[in-house]
Amino acid sequence: MNHIISPLDLSVEELDKLLDLANDIERDPEKYAHACEGKRLASLFYEPSTRTRLSFEAAMMNLGGKVLGFSEQGSSSATKGESVADTIRVVSCYAHIAAIRHPKEGAALVASMASQIPVINAGDGGHQHPTQTLTDLLTIRSMKGRLDNLTIGLCGDLRFGRTVHSLIEALVRYDNVNFILISPEELRVPSYIREGVLQKNNVSYREVVRLEEALPDLDLLYMTRVQRERFFNENDYVRMKDFYILDEIKMKLAGPDMLVLHPLPRVNEISVEVDKDPRAAYFKQAQYGVYVRMALILTLLNLA
Ligand code: NCD
Repeated sequence: MNHIISPLDLSVEELDKLLDLANDIERDPEKYAHACEGKRLASLFYEPSTRTRLSFEAAMMNLGGKVLGFSEQGSSSATKGESVADTIRVVSCYAHIAAIRHPKEGAALVASMASQIPVINAGDGGHQHPTQTLTDLLTIRSMKGRLDNLTIGLCGDLRFGRTVHSLIEALVRYDNVNFILISPEELRVPSYIREGVLQKNNVSYREVVRLEEALPDLDLLYMTRVQRERFFNENDYVRMKDFYILDEIKMKLAGPDMLVLHPLPRVNEISVEVDKDPRAAYFKQAQYGVYVRMALILTLLNLA
């Protein structure tokens, strides 16, 4: 059984093939409009989501398939005390593939172990978010033409931001990718990423607090929101939430080809005035998320 729980569940070769398929879907969506007829996606969202859930559902519909599921914990049997393992065992009888988002780290892995159908991790707590990473990789490869030889700034909540953890894990497999990790002291990447991924793979990285210091060197800036729901205490969140605000003035420090990505939702960390800058790619990135999820569904159902 094939599941996508971590970005490393796909080899670099499998990933290349998947991104090629996503680009082909972008070029000719009609060709794939009936590919999943008779198939059902279960969308099991125990945590809020706009893009991830709707883009999974749109992806399945674009492929001619159907969707069932729930969009909040409160409307599932989780409130009665059902375990994720039991839920997925039952959902395996109703659907051919499942996307699951859960506030607990490791929930998607637990689900995959009990599942009869492919399980896709659509975000497990502050841990991983592999399909956002696929979206990010497709955006970078399509807009920059490469995934190697890049200097990438990751800015904001690097501690709780699962999109950042997954993106780092995926990108260290490419040659000459350098990271500048831009965060307040309290929101630095967890040590399993610093030691277990960056240092272990001899990847060049530096950690800085000031965004201005990093901007001139970047091929790509990946902004993130401070993850309010993962803070133990509201005062800490309030203190951190506006630490970084990317605006037109700061954008002047960046090169003419530096892309700005953001997994969204945005709060205050990118001023709306930046949206019209040609380097702002975050809404385009959301569109790529549908193509890549279509490609992933086709691949996991062996229909590619
Ligand atoms: C991200 C997430 O859920 O981790 N959103 C998304 O899936 N596009 C980022 C975030 O919530 O900040």
